[in-house]
Amino acid sequence: MVSTVNLKRAGVFFFAAFSFQLAGAGLAAFAETTPPGDPKPVKEEDGKYFDASGAPTYNIKPDGTVDWFTYSGYRRYHAECHVCHGPDGMGSTYAPALINSVKVMNFDQFSEVVVGGRQNVTSGNDSVMPSFGLNKNVMCYLDDIYVYLRARSNDALGRVRPAKRDEKTQGTINAEKACLGE
Ligand code: HEC
Repeated sequence: MVSTVNLKRAGVFFFAAFSFQLAGAGLAAFAETTPPGDPKPVKEEDGKYFDASGAPTYNIKPDGTVDWFTYSGYRRYHAECHVCHGPDGMGSTYAPALINSVKVMNFDQFSEVVVGGRQNVTSGNDSVMPSFGLNKNVMCYLDDIYVYLRARSNDALGRVRPAKRDEKTQGTINAEKACLGE
C-alpha cells in the first residue's frame, strides 16, 4: 500500500509541478465547484435513479430498502476508497470526507477527480488522490459509489451496511459485464 502510494506520488508530483509552471491560472479551476442540487429522483432506468439534472441519485424507501446502486456503492466504496477516505465516507487524516465533498461537487466534478486523480499543490501537504481512470473496478462502479456517497451526505443513509435492497436487474448485470469486458 505505502509503496504504491509513493510510486504514484512520484508520478503525480512531477505532473503537478510541471503544470504549476505552465498554468497557474488553471489551478484555480480545481476550486470551482457546483453543488449537485436536489437529489430527488425524477427518472428510473433499470433500477438506477436520476435527478432532474440527469445525475445518478439514490432512492431509499420509507422502510429503509435501498436501490441496488446505493448498496453496490457501499460495497465498492469500502473496497476501493475506504483505505484513504475513511469508513462510511467520513474522511481520515490523509484524505477528505467525501460525504462533505459531494455536497459541493456535482457528479461531473466528482468523476473528473476520480478519473484523473489530483494533488493538492497549494496546501503544502503531499497528499495524493490517485487516478482511477484505468481501473475497471472503480470506473464500472462510478455511479454506484457516487450514489452511495450522495445518500450518506444527505443523511438518507446512516453509518450502516444497508440491510434491505432492491434486486439487481438483468439490465444492470448486462451493463456490468459489458463494462468489465466479460
Ligand atoms: C491512496 C489514497 C486514496 C484512495 C485509495 C482514494 N483517494 Fe480520493 N483522495 C485522496 C486524497 C489524498 C485526496 C485529496 C487530494 C488533494 O488534496 O488534492 C483525495 C481527493 C478526492 C476527491 C476530491 C475531494 C474534494 O473534496 O475535493 C474525490 C472526489 C475523491 N478523492 C474520490 C475518491 C474515490 C471515489 C475513491 C475510491 C474509488 C478514492 N478517492 C480513493 C486519496 C485517495
